Amino acid sequence: MTNTHSFEAIVTAMFDCVPDPMVRLGPNGILLEQNEEAEAMFGTWAQGRSYVTLFRQPTLAQAIEQVLQSGVSSEAEFIQTSTAGAERFIVRITALPEANLGIVLHFEDVTHLTEVEEMRRDFVANVSHELRSPLTAILGFIETLRGPAAKDPAAQSRFLQIMQDEAQRMNRLIGDLLSLSRVESQQRQRPDQVIDVMHVVSRVQAALRPLVEESGCQVMIQRPDDVSTELRGDSDQLTQVFRNLIENALKYGGQNKTVTIKMRHEMGQGSLKGRLLCVDVIDQGEGIDPLHIPRLTERFYRVDNHRSRAMGGTGLGLAIVKHIVQRHRGRLKITSEQGKGSCFSVILPSE
Ligand SMILES: Nc1ncnc2c1ncn2[C@@H]1O[C@H](COP(=O)(O)OP(=O)(O)OP(=O)(O)O)[C@@H](O)[C@H]1O
Ligand SMILES: [Mg+2]
Repeated sequence: MTNTHSFEAIVTAMFDCVPDPMVRLGPNGILLEQNEEAEAMFGTWAQGRSYVTLFRQPTLAQAIEQVLQSGVSSEAEFIQTSTAGAERFIVRITALPEANLGIVLHFEDVTHLTEVEEMRRDFVANVSHELRSPLTAILGFIETLRGPAAKDPAAQSRFLQIMQDEAQRMNRLIGDLLSLSRVESQQRQRPDQVIDVMHVVSRVQAALRPLVEESGCQVMIQRPDDVSTELRGDSDQLTQVFRNLIENALKYGGQNKTVTIKMRHEMGQGSLKGRLLCVDVIDQGEGIDPLHIPRLTERFYRVDNHRSRAMGGTGLGLAIVKHIVQRHRGRLKITSEQGKGSCFSVILPSE
């Protein structure tokens, strides 16, 4: 084997080991070699073509040109758009030790990282916004209490009440954020205690009595005798799940209605196998527009921001529910019929 042969064989073998797209360009910028991943991305026709026709994005083309000329390695961004959306790559452009060997391009897919970054940015912006409104109100009332209301006891007591409500709102928000992050950190650990869902739901029903009375609603639990409600679960977390769902049914289901909690078994299919326990929380409210349903479990997502906020909601309740159900290897299903009501089903493996 000649030297050139062994060099090419090594390059080809190394290219094929790399799970990301990789190409080698000759000193004149012609694509000489590409691995399977690159072929899948650029097509076989790329072979023998110049980088100028292949990568039409100025930032990448300019960076390649510079490395070809200077022999100094560098990096550039490359965005590939397709019907599936945009993918973002960081391209490492490495000059080979001898100029006549050309340069190597390695494409690292960072689309996922960008999405995570975006989510984090949105999240921080949302949290800041949610905390700022009550804080602004509290600061405003402090000023009023010191100035115009300094000698007005009636106004003082009214303002202090508002300040207390706003501070409680911030407290609730922080409590919800902490529970969300706790559940997220336990996501991989499936609970190992055996608990009875019926007990959990009855306890929640008892704890919510003041809210039930205030709403004029009645809460009915339907559990046929042949439905076993014992399963592997975390009782505090499932308490949170049913508390939030029943609370939502009472808050958004309208006054003097019935909230029904139905327990039944179902046989799982696909990724959810075996016997399942389904707990349906059904209300007789106005229902939810299908447009909103897929987004309800997003953090801070509210159909009617003003209404939810007026009721003291943070918009984190269903996000917490979804994470807890996922930790239990279950699923949350939301169905709704406008004008008739909504049904939130918690589906949990029960074997
Ligand atoms: N049973 C329901 N009927 C109609 N809309 C609902 C129902 N449950 C939830 N929603 C809608 O989904 C949104 C998100 O609910 P979620 O429980 O996450 O937040 P919240 O109730 O606004 O605040 P929190 O639960 O944190 O106090 C609500 O603001 C409401 O618009
Ligand atoms: Mg809620």
